[in-house]
Amino acid sequence: MQVLVTGGAGYIGSHTVIELLNKGYDVVILDNFSNSKPEVLDKIRQITNKDFKFYEVDYLDKEKVDMIFAENNIEAVLNFAGFKAVGESVQKPIEYYTNNISGCLVLLDVMKKYNVKKFIFSSSATVYGDPEVIPITEECKTGGTTNPYGTTKLFIEQILMDLYKSDNTWDICILRYFNPVGAHESGLIGEEPKGIPNNLMPYIVRVAKGILPQLSVFGNDYPTPDGTGVRDYIHVVDLAKGHISALEKINKENEGLYIYNLGTGTGYSVLDMVNAFEKSTGKKVNYKITDRRPGDIATCYADPKKAKEELGWEATKTLEDMCKDSWRYIENCK
Ligand code: NAD
Ligand code: UFG
Repeated sequence: MQVLVTGGAGYIGSHTVIELLNKGYDVVILDNFSNSKPEVLDKIRQITNKDFKFYEVDYLDKEKVDMIFAENNIEAVLNFAGFKAVGESVQKPIEYYTNNISGCLVLLDVMKKYNVKKFIFSSSATVYGDPEVIPITEECKTGGTTNPYGTTKLFIEQILMDLYKSDNTWDICILRYFNPVGAHESGLIGEEPKGIPNNLMPYIVRVAKGILPQLSVFGNDYPTPDGTGVRDYIHVVDLAKGHISALEKINKENEGLYIYNLGTGTGYSVLDMVNAFEKSTGKKVNYKITDRRPGDIATCYADPKKAKEELGWEATKTLEDMCKDSWRYIENCK
């Protein structure tokens, strides 16, 4: 089966391409390298010993997206392409709404033209806003996003629901990721945010490596066991495997719209993460407690039961794996 992976050179996309190739899927990648590097493609080949087609295309460019469908025999699309930096989205809302929403619409429109109706979308736990119950189930209310990035995910979910309502021959799977961390165990690919990272794990590894002087722990007065924010960190390889299970599901059960949380179901605090990282790598993480970061919530972790029951998928990697693999990757980076 041939699948198109948009954003396949990015962090989660590249790990998913590896799992797809390992499972024997015929992969076509579309990426414009706006947040990734061409070298990743060779690393994927090196890890899997398999090849794939690649198009350097902006998915807003309808003619070129159309050409990809005309030249291939695509049967399903996994859409990872998009901008993802929460803070930047507040400064650049037009760019975020255009890239994430218009790009997705271009893709769906071309898919419709070619009668390709299997679609997997990278959503986020951010659609739950400040969650009403913990652990968060897929039935929890969505909305109340606090930044344009989160709102793009919320809007695209609505677009997909409307699309399915209009034509229930689509097979759509919305995957709501919790906090992806870690890297491929080869140490060849991983997360490489541009500039100073916003997310916790990329920041921790850079402090441990001496690239950044100190981690700021954003607040220790939250209603959590140690006062610091609690999140559901999930290894990116587990997350990638969740996409294979989702693809198998929509291949097997024709015509449906499905929504799944992809998380571990366990919450760890910022200080838990610092301690686990120090313990598993032997590296010191210098930190100080600072004010809360605006827009942050106290606690966010998934109820992953639905994905286990319906997809037969669950996360298996440990916090130690997440820390060790994140560290191995940054150690390998120049
Ligand atoms: P990433 O930035 O590493 O990967 C996205 C890829 O899409 C990049 O390679 C980028 O070059 C490409 N891209 C962006 N705009 C494009 C365009 N117009 N045309 C073609 N390619 C384009 O991000 P990621 O962490 O791999 O995230 C993948 C998806 O998962 C995104 O949609 C993101 O919003 C979502 N997500 C990520 C997280 C996270 O914490 N990493 C959490 C929840 C959801
Ligand atoms: N944190 C710090 N210091 C830092 C960075 C983060 O203390 O330098 C804390 C935050 O306050 C939070 C926790 O570490 O308590 C995790 O923060 P991240 O920025 O790593 O992740 P968030 O949960 O804020 O957001 C992430 C993604 C969003 C996504 C959301 C839900 O960045 O895109 O998970 O999936 F929407």
